Amino acid sequence: MVDKALGNGGRKSDKDLKIRVKSAKGRKVSSTKWLERQLNDPYVARARAEGYRSRAAFKIKEMDEKHKLFHKGTRVVDLGAAPGGWSQVAAKAVGSTDANPLVVGIDYLEMDPIPGVVLFRKDFTEDDAPQLLIDAMGGKKADLVMSDMAWPTTGHRATDHLRIVQLIEIAADFAIDVLAPGGAFVAKVFQGGTEHELLHMLKRHFKTTFHAKPPSSRQDSAEAYLIAKGFKGPDERTNGEEDGEHEER
Ligand SMILES: C[S@@+](CC[C@H](N)C(=O)[O-])C[C@H]1O[C@@H](n2cnc3c(N)ncnc32)[C@H](O)[C@@H]1O
Repeated sequence: MVDKALGNGGRKSDKDLKIRVKSAKGRKVSSTKWLERQLNDPYVARARAEGYRSRAAFKIKEMDEKHKLFHKGTRVVDLGAAPGGWSQVAAKAVGSTDANPLVVGIDYLEMDPIPGVVLFRKDFTEDDAPQLLIDAMGGKKADLVMSDMAWPTTGHRATDHLRIVQLIEIAADFAIDVLAPGGAFVAKVFQGGTEHELLHMLKRHFKTTFHAKPPSSRQDSAEAYLIAKGFKGPDERTNGEEDGEHEER
């Protein structure tokens, strides 16, 4: 089913060795392509070698390297945490331990425990989910709210777009409620951009907002991340002033 083939038209070079997956009866072409891409993806191999649960771990790592999101002691909320790559990176970077956990994560999928991370299995859009996370932080404010959440797509573009926008809005509202002044918000968005209204709202509450496409985010995917830094405090909610900067990075 899986065979190694020369990806260079016959010239022998280890570098060009590529795993090809033959289509199998009962497997859709899209699944075969997905499997082939996974097997040839250097980030998948790196994640396995470095003990991360997902290749997604490198996205937050790369964004942290460039935009300095984590510091020792940073309190982090991870929305849509499964299987746990971002939480693993966060726990290590901020120095979170089981005795003094600084990272709280939520997902409706079951996850294996991660040292230094308090995990909840729950749909974040349920009414009682935000309070659960707030209680888990022992009443302390967060310094970083990060969301890699995305609903499974329905195939209907307009519906999918509305659903993702709604998810980002709920995450952004939550971030504004729980962040400490100076805090940051990172959220997965999709091309077609972040909705105007949401961006305006974030610009009111944060000193800078920008979009990032980390190298490990597949170039052929519409995925990007919105990063908002320098939270001004919840009172800005009532202040209509818009002085935040927005740029693409
Ligand atoms: C791309 S994955 C996250 C990968 C993760 N950042 C990592 O590094 O392993 C997106 C996750 O968001 C979760 N998700 C989507 N909508 C959610 C919701 N409403 N509540 C909780 N989790 C949600 C999905 O179950 C999925 O596990």
